[in-house]
Amino acid sequence: MPVTLTWTGHATWLIDTGAGTLLVDPFFDECPTASMRAEDVACDAILVTHAHFDHVADAVAIATRTGATVFCNYEIAQWLGRHGVAKTHAMNLGGRVAVPGGHAKMELAHHSSSFVDGAYGGSPSGWLLDVGGKRIYVAGDTSVFLDMERIGRPDRGGRGLDAAILPIGDLFTMGPEDSLEALRMLRAKLALPSHYGTWPPIEQDAAEWARAVKAAGLADARVLAPGESVVVP
Ligand code: NI
Ligand code: MN
Repeated sequence: MPVTLTWTGHATWLIDTGAGTLLVDPFFDECPTASMRAEDVACDAILVTHAHFDHVADAVAIATRTGATVFCNYEIAQWLGRHGVAKTHAMNLGGRVAVPGGHAKMELAHHSSSFVDGAYGGSPSGWLLDVGGKRIYVAGDTSVFLDMERIGRPDRGGRGLDAAILPIGDLFTMGPEDSLEALRMLRAKLALPSHYGTWPPIEQDAAEWARAVKAAGLADARVLAPGESVVVP
């Protein structure tokens, strides 16, 4: 079974592993570029990178409706529990857990993490996924950081990153230029841009970014429109 990545806009991704669908950072109904409504989302698990509104806004509604387990840091799990989510899997940086289709490791991210009500949202994170025989890195909201060299290292089976999803919006995360530096360390086969184009402050020319990635020989790069999918190579 191929592993398929669908960008629904902003930093929200549906990852069809062939043995279940993972939803990363649910943000639909208040996202100006979202390709679908929260009520139409089908998923088997939800992965959250941090507590900011544009990453958790629809987590409670979707988790409650679908019964999908939410994988997230301890503080986010506590908050979701207080808001009626029955199934959370609390973890923290460095932890690796089984998810539908394989495993997910909570990786570093350099960012912040607080809920709209001011509650502490724990450490922000990225996700390193081994699902459906593919290795996929979802950076989450972060600046570029040197540990990306480690994250990109092949596993003991010799598998490096098949795909890397990176923010390119700048201002709140790394921008296009630093994402090239990130790709230099990650050595992924395919690079996909995220966290841009949602609002004017994070507008970017993603086509130009893709040209730069390919011209530098860093990865294949694909720019998706919200609602579009790509099969992981
Ligand atoms: Ni954020
Ligand atoms: Mn964000």
